[in-house]
Amino acid sequence: MSKLHVKPSDETYVIDEKKSILENLRDNGVYVKSSCGGHASCTDCIIKVLDGKESINGPTFDETKLLGNVFHITKERLACQCFVNGEATIDISAHDKRSDEDRQQAKNRKNRHGINQSKKKI
Ligand code: FES
Repeated sequence: MSKLHVKPSDETYVIDEKKSILENLRDNGVYVKSSCGGHASCTDCIIKVLDGKESINGPTFDETKLLGNVFHITKERLACQCFVNGEATIDISAHDKRSDEDRQQAKNRKNRHGINQSKKKI
């Protein structure tokens, strides 16, 4: 039985070792941004490992390609590539569903406005 402690909520989850941190968090209704669906190509799912790095698998080739070999400095990993076997503590404070939705809506408005502007010129 593995456990994942999550900051800043201070929640602890009993997790499935066969699923990635991203999948485990989603299963528990915890938001972590992802654009690629967990295929190690968007880097949206970056989390910080605060404790228990020895309980997490080493970086995959794809993860190292995206983040570089600087975990010892940044403590950043891709949630979609991390599997916990034991206990670990992570920080997901960079993942705020509401601000991500607001940012996306602003982007959509801007794009719509841009489309409307180009239609007027025609
Ligand atoms: S979800 Fe896209 S890199 Fe992890």
